[in-house]
Amino acid sequence: MLETEISGIKLRNPLVLAAGILGVTKESLRRVARDAGAVTTKSIGKKPRKGNPNPSIVAFEHGLINSVGLSNPGIDAVLSEFGRLDDLEVPVIMSIFARKKEELAEVAAKAEKLNPAMIEIDMSCPVFEYEGMPWDNPKTTEEIVRSVKKAIKRPLAVKLSPNTARIGEVALGAERGGADVITAVNTLPGMIINPEAGLPVLSNRTGGVSGPALKPIAIRAVYEIYEKVSIPIIGVGGVTTGRDAVEMLMAGASAVGVGSAVYYRGVEAFAKIKEEMEEWMRSNNVRNVKEIRGLAHRR
Ligand SMILES: Cc1cc2nc3c(=O)[nH]c(=O)nc-3n(C[C@H](O)[C@H](O)[C@H](O)COP(=O)(O)O)c2cc1C
Repeated sequence: MLETEISGIKLRNPLVLAAGILGVTKESLRRVARDAGAVTTKSIGKKPRKGNPNPSIVAFEHGLINSVGLSNPGIDAVLSEFGRLDDLEVPVIMSIFARKKEELAEVAAKAEKLNPAMIEIDMSCPVFEYEGMPWDNPKTTEEIVRSVKKAIKRPLAVKLSPNTARIGEVALGAERGGADVITAVNTLPGMIINPEAGLPVLSNRTGGVSGPALKPIAIRAVYEIYEKVSIPIIGVGGVTTGRDAVEMLMAGASAVGVGSAVYYRGVEAFAKIKEEMEEWMRSNNVRNVKEIRGLAHRR
């Protein structure tokens, strides 16, 4: 009932652990792999990165805001720790980032040695120094994607930022550069001020907003991208319940990323959302994911 496919990779259900949610250990991925359709690693860069000091993740009424800052042990340490990524119960998507275009291709080539099912590049990465703000520039995105695609053989997912007024065009740039999948969206920059302290709550002051507050923004992004490209989309942003996941599929997603919901519902979030999706489908006489994918686009 819930089977789906992204770029030739079969998933037993559409739920994908979003990047950066559960550390970098294989054990944490394994726990989620019991119920998810696929899992994504934390984003890994060329060198170890400490990230920002605490508080770096704070809950508010409508979601979370984080400034974790891409803390990670660096690709070389991950190569020796993980060994391989094709021995989990489900496909593993390896997320990577870099400061520069050339570095990104280099990290991608190394990441491929781990045998992930797919490589995902974090194009919304705030540390990116490459000129031309790729998250808001279709041409720059196309160039970056093309250079990474040349360096690898596996399918490539490109993760986009909602921080643009032309996400459909940026996705089209990624598709032209050779992307196999679009992942949309990453967090949206924001700030929360504690009125009593008279200061922002995050040590970094600004951070990325995720969770329910992001959902309508993510739904719109996926809807627009679906109109522009023909490659599959992993829709991410604020999905907390089975009903939210159905909404994401109807916007045009082939698979659905789940991040902040793990903070709200624990790792059981995947089993719960899966059950809720099945229940919704049964009571609405929907037999499979294909029947509802992109449904909201009919006029
Ligand atoms: C604490 C935290 C860390 C994250 N780290 C990464 C990361 O390393 N790479 C990345 O591409 N996205 C990262 N994200 C973004 C998520 O993968 C996801 O795109 C975003 O949170 C929206 O989905 P959600 O509302 O289901 O959380 C992070 C999100 C959170 C909350």
